[in-house]
Amino acid sequence: MNKITIAIDGHSSCGKSTMARDLASRLGYVYVDSGAMYRAVTLYALRGGIAHDGQIDEPRLRDALPDISISFIFNPTTQRPDTYLNGELVEREIRSLQVSSCVSPVAALPFVRSAMVEQQRLMGEKGGIVMDGRDIGTTVFPNAELKVFVTASAEVRARRRYLELTAKGQQCDFADILRNVQERDYIDSHREVSPLRPAPDAVLLDNSDMTPAGQLEWLLHQVELKTNV
Ligand code: DC
Repeated sequence: MNKITIAIDGHSSCGKSTMARDLASRLGYVYVDSGAMYRAVTLYALRGGIAHDGQIDEPRLRDALPDISISFIFNPTTQRPDTYLNGELVEREIRSLQVSSCVSPVAALPFVRSAMVEQQRLMGEKGGIVMDGRDIGTTVFPNAELKVFVTASAEVRARRRYLELTAKGQQCDFADILRNVQERDYIDSHREVSPLRPAPDAVLLDNSDMTPAGQLEWLLHQVELKTNV
């Protein structure tokens, strides 16, 4: 069977990463979490004082970009790729609320996006990839054979993120998370470069009331429709 390119886009915290990872693992494809790349750049900026108090020093970040190397290494215990920033494992830190609160403005910067998109295209050169993000079907892989646009209500998504963080022992407040989800929806959908929107040929999936197993079946069916033609 031909290995295709699969783009999964959608709102934050709607379970894209889990479904993309499960799908890749069932198909024997590579999985790339493009949001982790924007999070790693944000972490670098926060640590270096390039981003602070909601302000980003754009010239400094632009100069620093060549020094930011992001890679993924598959973790057999979690069955998912871990994110490394300049060789350091940062998987946990990039998911913190501090990074989540600052990542959307960083991801809205055109020079950050073009650098990330270039790397993402290289990763997908050979097909056999599932990549999730916001602009994968519209900008990164406009020729992807299968494009899925996922969403769920903001409350459902905030609840999922809250349970995820508390399960990891991180202290958080549901109202803060809901606000963060809504703010990111707004910034992601209104930015000038590659705003979040479904590609015209994307299939839509509202997973508010779906289980992970149900989603995976649905996705496998979509893959079958694209590969059995
Ligand atoms: O999927 P996530 O929540 O980890 O994404 C983090 C942020 O990065 C989110 O605010 C949107 C942005 N992002 C993006 O602009 N383009 C992508 N392809 C992936 C993520």
